[in-house]
Amino acid sequence: MLNARRLFCLALAGIALAWMVAAGQAVADDAPLPQNDKVMHLGVASCASSTCHGAVTSFTQSTVLLNEYVTWVRKDKHAKAYEVLLNDESKRIARNLGLKNAHEADLCLDCHADNVPAAQRGPSFQLSEGVGCEACHGGSEKWLSSHAVGPPHAENISLGLYPTDDPVARAELCLSCHFGNKDKFVTHRIMGAGHPRMSFELDTFTQIQPAHFVIDEDYRKRKQVSDGVQLWAVGQAVAARELLAALTDPKRNRDGMFPELVLFDCHACHSSMSKVDWRPTSTGNRTPGMPHVNGASLLMLRIVADAVEPARGKAMAGKIRALHKAASQGMPQMVSAARDLRVLTDELVQKFASHNFDADAMQAILGGLIKTGLEGEYADYAAAEQVAMAMDSIIAAMVDAQMVSDAKARKLQTALDAVYNAVDREDSYSSWRFNKALKGMQGAIAS
Ligand code: HEC
Ligand code: HEC
Ligand code: HEC
Ligand code: HEC
Repeated sequence: MLNARRLFCLALAGIALAWMVAAGQAVADDAPLPQNDKVMHLGVASCASSTCHGAVTSFTQSTVLLNEYVTWVRKDKHAKAYEVLLNDESKRIARNLGLKNAHEADLCLDCHADNVPAAQRGPSFQLSEGVGCEACHGGSEKWLSSHAVGPPHAENISLGLYPTDDPVARAELCLSCHFGNKDKFVTHRIMGAGHPRMSFELDTFTQIQPAHFVIDEDYRKRKQVSDGVQLWAVGQAVAARELLAALTDPKRNRDGMFPELVLFDCHACHSSMSKVDWRPTSTGNRTPGMPHVNGASLLMLRIVADAVEPARGKAMAGKIRALHKAASQGMPQMVSAARDLRVLTDELVQKFASHNFDADAMQAILGGLIKTGLEGEYADYAAAEQVAMAMDSIIAAMVDAQMVSDAKARKLQTALDAVYNAVDREDSYSSWRFNKALKGMQGAIAS
């Protein structure tokens, strides 16, 4: 559907019908991340004119909102990601790491800006725009002028638009900065220098990011849509895969004489010495006096697998146990157990990407999250935090699908608030208090 405003936008951009010639099959899974694509990034200004994506209010006759720029610049923290590199906190981190400054260090810019090589920056590209449109949507050199006439989504993708609607590709994109990947990583050294701890969950963070797109009927015709539970499950599977990739990567799994500590549960070391309450867990993730791998995403993945594919869930449980055991034995043992687990995790990523999480699956996952907690598995803060975000995603999906009455939805929301309260403060987290909140949730579900 074309309209006057879009045509004007096109006139400005110069109508190019390259997409008609360059038609090709979309290869979502193989798409390089925007930071690694080999095309020109033209900068936010090239998307932001008032006739393109810079309208002040949304424009109802268009298939897209056209006020994406205004939402991003006014509300989205990504627009401030470069600016934070100039603040006192970043100055301190840079000083502690012996960097000249943070805002010129690739180490920081790789996640706080669209840090493509200089030769790939167009004339109006500004590094100071932070995590701009092309840091997520890909360099626009080949699709900028054609995408607005409305070629099929697959054709835009074949011209280098990153497939942000594909759940696996989206998870890989967000996690590349919110967890790190082989090219960029917040190590324990960087955290020790003052970088905040990172936590991420795809569906919750998709909800928190100020929305610059709407999923309406027209969107559903053009693109892939993943409901909240699928986005959550795929996000967990990809997060688990990224964790295992880091554990098997010799560049990231060690630092000096120590393993890379950022891959371990922070509170295994960062807790008061008067707190002596070591207990074994049924998943065998703990050995007395040893730090343990932060297995929160693995645990979540096992719970989803248990609910939708019990056989793989069981296999997963065994392999997670083996990984934790191996991590207490030595680096080669740990790497080999992590490799083994990765095969199964890869299968689950593929499986969840096309799985339909129906009402039964949602109930089973919610039940699994509670049961696992009551068995004593959420001794780690990081696991409890993931559980709170998981319940949020599932309850929101149940409400959206009108699986529960309004009265029950209110009860579930109250119970969810209590779950969030129990992970409110990381330093005083108590699994006893968390489990009390889980019992409250169990009551709300049964009501
Ligand atoms: C692997 C990606 C990555 C790297 C590398 C990285 N950061 Fe970050 N940084 C993030 C993410 C993601 C957040 C937001 C965390 C959140 O809110 O969940 C963040 C948050 C921050 C914050 C807090 C921002 C706020 O709004 O309070 C500061 C300050 C910061 N980073 C500075 C730095 C500095 C300085 C460097 C370089 C030494 C650096 N970062 C390297 C990804 C990264
Ligand atoms: C942090 C990542 C991120 C940034 C930064 C970002 N986007 Fe998006 N954008 C997304 C995601 C995720 C979607 C939803 C998936 C999809 O539709 O492909 C989306 C969707 C869109 C859509 C599609 C709406 C539809 O109906 O098809 C447009 C248009 C868009 N973004 C424009 C922009 C513009 C313009 C900017 C910069 C001002 C921007 N985005 C910045 C992640 C981002
Ligand atoms: C190029 C790196 C990069 C990518 C890709 C990226 N982010 Fe971010 N994100 C950041 C940084 C850096 C911050 C912190 C910015 C700040 O605090 O100023 C951040 C902050 C956020 C926040 C705000 C968190 C808070 O504490 O308020 C949300 C939500 C978020 N990102 C969601 C996403 C989602 C969803 C995706 C994928 C669609 C994504 N991000 C992709 C780098 C990235
Ligand atoms: C195996 C033990 C261990 C694990 C696991 C661990 N740390 Fe540390 N951490 C240390 C040690 C040791 C120091 C250095 C203390 C010193 O400077 O004397 C430290 C220092 C720090 C500091 C600087 C504290 C200061 O005094 O300024 C921060 C922040 C930090 N760690 C965060 C984390 C986070 C976040 C995690 C989890 C992602 C984590 N650590 C996991 C052992 C650990």
